[in-house]
Amino acid sequence: MNLVRLIYASHKTEFWNDLELGKLLENAQRFNKAKNITGILYFNRKYFLQCLEGQRDDVSALYSEIVQDRRHRDVQILAFEEINEREMEQWHMSYLPDSKITQSMILKYTNGTDFDPFSMTGRGALAFMLHAARLLKAEQP
Ligand SMILES: Cc1cc2nc3c(=O)[nH]c(=O)nc-3n(C[C@H](O)[C@H](O)[C@H](O)COP(=O)(O)O)c2cc1C
Repeated sequence: MNLVRLIYASHKTEFWNDLELGKLLENAQRFNKAKNITGILYFNRKYFLQCLEGQRDDVSALYSEIVQDRRHRDVQILAFEEINEREMEQWHMSYLPDSKITQSMILKYTNGTDFDPFSMTGRGALAFMLHAARLLKAEQP
């Protein structure tokens, strides 16, 4: 088993519709569960930042699908690494709403006050995602 974690950033396009978010997550969770893929999706109304954890071939195959999705563009891998353990094992795809992100969190991980994942380093993107995972875990009963 080769577990990996991949984090990418992208920019929404005119084909994206906020109303589709629920359906996208539902489908993603169903598919990811079948493939034992876990992760978090953050969307700030302009950019996506997504973390995918799972077996290398499954994560690679899903990423190849996601890249071709016309609802976003400029898909860029920020971080990719082999891992010994997952950090997002609770969720087949958790959604991190923008309302959970504070200005201090943005300042902590980016160089300004606007969240722009393309300005993040790979290590910064990972730290942001791990912070997000802690926030989401703290909310669970
Ligand atoms: C930002 C974003 C994140 C996505 N994340 C996932 C995901 O985690 N799992 C998944 O199965 N599909 C995800 N999708 C949807 C896939 O791109 C694609 O629509 C899905 O694999 C179904 O492909 P198909 O319509 O060709 O069958 C995501 C799409 C976008 C735009």
